[in-house]
Amino acid sequence: MRSSQLVRHVFALCLAVLLLLAFVPVAAPQTPGAAQNLPWMNKSLSPDQRADLVLEQMTLDEKIQLVHGTGWGVLRPGAPVPARSNLGAGFTPGIDRLGIPDINLADSAAGVRMAALQSRYATLLPSPLGLAATWDLQAAQLYGAVIGRELRDQGFNMSIGGGLDLVREPRNGRTWEYAGEDPVLAGSIVGMLAKGVQSQHVMGDIKHYAVNDQETGRNTLSAEMNKRELGESDLLAFEIAIGIAEPAGVMCAYNRVYGDYSCENDYLLNEVLKKDFAFKGFVLSDWDATHSTVKAVKNGLDMEQPGDGFLGAPLKKAIESGEIPQARLDDMVHRILRSMFAAGVIDQQVMPRRVTDPFRGLEDSQQIAEESIVLLRNADGLLPLSAASLKSIALIGSHADIGILSGGGSAQVDAPGGNVIDPKPGSAEWQKPVWFPCSPLKYIRKKAPNAKVEYNDGKDAAAAANFAKSYDVAIVFVNQFLTEGRDVETLTLPDNQDALVRAVAAANPHTIVVIESGTTITMPWLRDVKGVLATWYPGIGGAQAISNILFGDINPSGKLPITFAKTEADLPHPQIPGTDVLQKARSEHKPEWVPLPPFDVNYTEGAKAGYKWFDAENKQPLFPFGFGLSYTTFSYSDLKVDDKLRQVTFMVKNAGARAGAEIPQVYAQLPTAAGETYKRLVAWERVPLAAGESKTITLPLNPVYLSIFDEKKDNWTLLSGEYKVLVGSSSRETPLNTTLHVQ
Ligand code: BGC
Repeated sequence: MRSSQLVRHVFALCLAVLLLLAFVPVAAPQTPGAAQNLPWMNKSLSPDQRADLVLEQMTLDEKIQLVHGTGWGVLRPGAPVPARSNLGAGFTPGIDRLGIPDINLADSAAGVRMAALQSRYATLLPSPLGLAATWDLQAAQLYGAVIGRELRDQGFNMSIGGGLDLVREPRNGRTWEYAGEDPVLAGSIVGMLAKGVQSQHVMGDIKHYAVNDQETGRNTLSAEMNKRELGESDLLAFEIAIGIAEPAGVMCAYNRVYGDYSCENDYLLNEVLKKDFAFKGFVLSDWDATHSTVKAVKNGLDMEQPGDGFLGAPLKKAIESGEIPQARLDDMVHRILRSMFAAGVIDQQVMPRRVTDPFRGLEDSQQIAEESIVLLRNADGLLPLSAASLKSIALIGSHADIGILSGGGSAQVDAPGGNVIDPKPGSAEWQKPVWFPCSPLKYIRKKAPNAKVEYNDGKDAAAAANFAKSYDVAIVFVNQFLTEGRDVETLTLPDNQDALVRAVAAANPHTIVVIESGTTITMPWLRDVKGVLATWYPGIGGAQAISNILFGDINPSGKLPITFAKTEADLPHPQIPGTDVLQKARSEHKPEWVPLPPFDVNYTEGAKAGYKWFDAENKQPLFPFGFGLSYTTFSYSDLKVDDKLRQVTFMVKNAGARAGAEIPQVYAQLPTAAGETYKRLVAWERVPLAAGESKTITLPLNPVYLSIFDEKKDNWTLLSGEYKVLVGSSSRETPLNTTLHVQ
């Protein structure tokens, strides 16, 4: 080859390489910093030391780049999508020259969201509220591990799940995303969940900090209650979860607390989260929940999502002008980097991608669902059903021929095959009800191969009753769909389903109701039916779990993580606060996404969320917190309390003929000086027991759970005096009690 030809070839080759580099989207950095011998890749250093070493090398622009996202991306049709984004809810580009990978954030409350965008698959887990109904910390860790594993498989390195707002308003459209009404149960469950996520080298998150306890007016309302009650309720849940998981992120909420937006709230972020809870990770804003630059940054916000309107160019200007000290920006960046090192997302960068294992996901999801389903009623021992003796089973309603329902909004997981059914007119795409292909009809037919099992859609109550009357058993599936962005006006089942249940129950004396719901419902037909199962939104293994429980292959063991009220009139707020403001906006034809004018929500019930309210007010719930039946019975005895070791010991016995699991619960009523007219959940354990088996259970009493939050001291105080300790199977069934003496 002549030299001029060679030059031409080399030139052409270089051009081709250049063109390729210009047009092929660059993949996330494949070369971890270790390969470049970067000093911060020394794993014997602590995450904080490693973060500081990186920080020393960073320019101002690089620091600014790390503290915000790059826009709405795939969430908003038409918005630009950065080439390297993994198509999740958020994207913050890394610093290639320093070996710091991009942060790809994905919503993942009940499984990875938006998998369908790239024809990926994600496991739908039972709703987090269902997870809380297991009261099982190991199940919570498994739940998080499934999410973390699948995020990683799909190229994400941060979860933005971990909903932990307290259910003080059961009509909240996001109740299904949260872990119930008790701060100790919810904080422990969500803490273990976030720990599970992080076990997969994915950054975990908990949200929405704080008191985003209703959707009505969520962008503008100010939550008000005194600091003691806030500390003993919503904030305690976060304190517990942070202690368990040390999550990378805490997402600040849309709403205001004490008048200030959560994402620029000095009390919430600086004083409580960072000082009192010693939170080492970073505070990221909910999507578009940042409202300022100087105030937000000074008051504790570390990362704006999804855009850069406040923490991009305006932040750079504020640093350059000295309005915000450089040290504060360094603290923000340090928090992000140390969290990346601590979770392992720098040492184990998210590559290569793998096909999510749907079989493993299904198994895990089903196992959790089987622990989460709560048996609420079993009159005449109709359940479990006997496949051998039943000749016919009628299945009615709720698309039970097709699948199971999930919750809507940013926590929705994409269903294989789509399956949007019955959307309410005017519903936005992300708020539509989705049925997962997991058919109760199919699995119930498998359980009873010799019986006639047929389905009626239940749309016409009279026709359904007529259909049901000749069958041995009628199983009515009812549902209540919940979605982010709006609350439900009432706890009454929608679409005339109460009339359906009544009609079927009148036609068939062996009627069982299976509820798929995101929160509590009222049951005006309760005494007319023989059996009731609360299955929450049970996830992709839901139909299998439901049929295993109906036929007794699994003995139900879930317990309620929320109180079922008989009527809205018994709730602390018979009407959702702000309903008048919402109604006015509707009458003015304001679209749903337009924020309501500001208003205060006075949470006058304070720390008395859920059962504490019902106890203090002496109101009888439909089903109490902690309640759940089994196909066997348990007895309790021999309660002892050790004042010195501060622990309780008691015996639980499976007094029936079937193996089962009981969840004994320990409650404490504080000394009179505390001024509390209710008891608190302070300990519990999930105890599997063979038929006839007894176990001695010893549980420690955590002093914080027994303490009051002293506003003046800004700390917990354990009062001396007599504490009544109650033990039993629910908050209203406590056969054992004794006294704990605190000096
Ligand atoms: C929700 C968050 C979610 C974010 C991103 C917001 O509407 O409140 O929970 O993580 O959107 O999708």
